[in-house]
Amino acid sequence: MQKEQIENLKNELKTAFNDINTLNELENKKVEYMGKNGKITLLGGMIKDIPNEEKKEFGMNLNELKNIFNENYDKIKKELEERIINEKLAKEAVDVSLPGTKINNGAPNILEKIIEEVESVFMSMGYDVVDGPEIEEDHYNFELLNIPKGHPARDAQDTFYVKGEDYLLRSQTSPVQARVMLASGGNKPIRMICPGKTYRRDADDATHSHQFMQIEGLLVDKDVSLSDLKGTFDVIAKKLFGEDCITRFRPSYYQFTEPSVETDISCFVCKGKGCSLCKNTGWITVSGAGIVHPNVLRNCGYDPAVWTGFAFGFGAERLAMLKYGINDIRTFYQTDLREISNFDRRDDE
Ligand code: DAH
Repeated sequence: MQKEQIENLKNELKTAFNDINTLNELENKKVEYMGKNGKITLLGGMIKDIPNEEKKEFGMNLNELKNIFNENYDKIKKELEERIINEKLAKEAVDVSLPGTKINNGAPNILEKIIEEVESVFMSMGYDVVDGPEIEEDHYNFELLNIPKGHPARDAQDTFYVKGEDYLLRSQTSPVQARVMLASGGNKPIRMICPGKTYRRDADDATHSHQFMQIEGLLVDKDVSLSDLKGTFDVIAKKLFGEDCITRFRPSYYQFTEPSVETDISCFVCKGKGCSLCKNTGWITVSGAGIVHPNVLRNCGYDPAVWTGFAFGFGAERLAMLKYGINDIRTFYQTDLREISNFDRRDDE
């Protein structure tokens, strides 16, 4: 009787796995045959009713049945798992021959880059980088800097006034000198630069812009002379324009410095021989500078009998135009992305 059942189950197992398509169905088969109430398990439970001499054979047959089940089970399981993996791989396949998605790279703003370069040179010489207001008081922008109301030196800086005569869009970064000196209390040395926006009522053209960036600098200490300014300027020029760059001073006039100078660098294109960039002079002017006027020191709380200092003002656009061969200042304010990424490339040349 049990023999017959074993034979039947053997036959059944031949086709039992035929229509299994998922791991779930396979697990159900396991329960059906090998679970607690599974067909093979129940059959095994009958061993206790079998005469002793037949037990051995029954056991062997039962094992054979279990082996058949397990072999089938393992084989189907492997096949199903492989199929699942292959399906997953096929779904997630990447065609490496497809053209990639183009990613537009950003480029740093060229003025920002020049300013960071100048800042890092000055910081390496112990200067602080400070900020000042763009809407400024006449008092700081002109009066403390030795340019009283009605003085003709104001004409050189045609100014945007806001709110009457006392407030304006700063026409230079020099008021930040005055602010820093006043904040320092007249008894400490100062080394600072202030890069920032400035405004003048200029008609925009290739070399003028009603908004532009200056980089102001001030050093106050004891026994500061024009040769300290020259040495500092030399270092900056070499760092920005190359080790073979040489510098010179030309006399000039600013109300807030005495003596005042224009600072020139040797032309980095023709190395001083004369070319169109330097208008055949061999020299390029890059900033105004001078020894801080005693009136300015006094106005800002420093005793000119004890303290001296030098100051300078660079035009950031001018530096960038020279360095990157840009011939129109309006380029900086037209935000043409092609120009911006173009500057970035030029740096690698
Ligand atoms: N403020 C001047 C200008 O806008 C530039 C300048 C010249 C700044 C000489 C200075 C300086 O501090 O000492 O033209």
